Parts: sequence; structure tokens; C-alpha cells
Amino acid sequence: MIRTVLPEILDTLPPGHPDAVASRRDLRRLNWIMGNHRWLAAQLAARHRGGRVVELGAGDGSLGRMLFHRQPGLVDRWTGLDLIAPPPEWPAGWMQTDLFSPEGSAVVAAAETVVANLFLHHFENGALARLGTQLKHSRLLLFCEPARRRRHQWQGRLLAPFLNRVTRHDLKVSVAAGFLGGELPEALGLRPVEWRWTVRTGFRGSLRFAAERIE
Ligand SMILES: C[S@@+](CC[C@H](N)C(=O)[O-])C[C@H]1O[C@@H](n2cnc3c(N)ncnc32)[C@H](O)[C@@H]1O
Repeated sequence: MIRTVLPEILDTLPPGHPDAVASRRDLRRLNWIMGNHRWLAAQLAARHRGGRVVELGAGDGSLGRMLFHRQPGLVDRWTGLDLIAPPPEWPAGWMQTDLFSPEGSAVVAAAETVVANLFLHHFENGALARLGTQLKHSRLLLFCEPARRRRHQWQGRLLAPFLNRVTRHDLKVSVAAGFLGGELPEALGLRPVEWRWTVRTGFRGSLRFAAERIE
């Protein structure tokens, strides 16, 4: 499958729209099925050495909330970044802006650790290359993205009766915009002399990317 980036409906709906609310609920379930939050929590516990953390495309904040419960020290270090407003009673930092705005770029540039879940696949390689230039001061990158395999679109179809119409559309589009192998570090322009990374794909559709800057 050739990588194809098409607009996702969730990004076009007002956050309070019933379909957006239903789709974000579906995303929480899909994240649970894919094990994304559990993997990110384990990686942060093992590798995060302090400093600021930014979560790109933090959405409804469910990853942060789960983490703050397990690792309370993260609350004061965490900034969620998203186009939408912070979720109700959000306890940590939040930047409501486009990732590529000057404010968004500044938050990314100030973070030692950059986390993203089901987010980077929204962007063409040109935009990912631009994000790569914002990572100059980062030391740890942890990303969960869709693995671009047709069989995951089929798995999504099996779940269709349980998903909102927006999620059904966005899931198929997301898989087609996902990554395989070394595509993500290549698109970000990470250099093997500066970064040590691993990329793993799982049975349930997730591609897990972890990178640490070489000292
Ligand atoms: C598929 S949702 C994933 C949300 C969350 N990470 C999760 O796993 O449930 C993608 C999120 O990225 C946000 N987003 C899309 N484009 C963005 C941009 N250019 N800058 C910041 N956030 C963006 C959307 O508002 C949305 O909340």
C-alpha cells in the first residue's frame, strides 16, 4: 500500500459535536485494544530522565490522565498540544495551537521528551521533515502510529458495528496514512549518528517508535 494522507473527519468537527464526542470515545477503546497507552507508559517509566514532556495531538487527554495517576511527577512537566481546547479539569500544561505555529514550535523545541499517539500519520513527509527540525533539543521520542497494512483495515471493518461513522472513516484513512519499517525516522530526517531507535509493529495495528539521542 502506498502511503496516502487524506483529511480525517474528526479534525474538521467542532470538539463538542456528537460525532466528535463519540469518535473520541471510540479512540479510547481502540487505544486500549492496541495497547498504545500501556506501551507509552512503560517506555516513559523506563526511559524518561526528567525535563519537559510535550504530547503532540493530545486530544481528550486520556493518555496524560492515565500517566499522571501512575507517575504523578509527570503532571508538572507535561504539556498537551492540540488544536482543541484543554479537556475539562485538565491538571497539566496545555497549548491550544497548531503544531507548526510559532508557539507550537517553541513548545516542541523546549521539550526533552516528545510523545505522540495516533498523530504523526496526519502529515505528509514534508511536514514531518519540518517537525524533525523542531526536535533539535529533544532527547527522547516515543510515538505510536498506525502500521500501514491492509489487514489492519480489515480488522477495523470487523469492529465497524461498534464504531461511530466518523471513526469508521478515519480508521481506514489512518491506516493508509500510517508507516512501516524505517519510514518514520526517515521522514523526520533523524540521523543514525545522532539517534538510536527501534521500530516495532504489533498484531493489533500499532507501529511503535522509540528513539534516544546518542550522548
Ligand atoms: C486521531 S486524534 C488522536 C488524539 C489522541 N492522541 C488519541 O490517541 O486519542 C488526532 C489529534 O490531533 C489533533 N491535531 C490534528 N492536527 C493538528 C495540528 N496541526 N496541530 C495540533 N494538533 C493537531 C486533533 O485535534 C486530534 O485531537
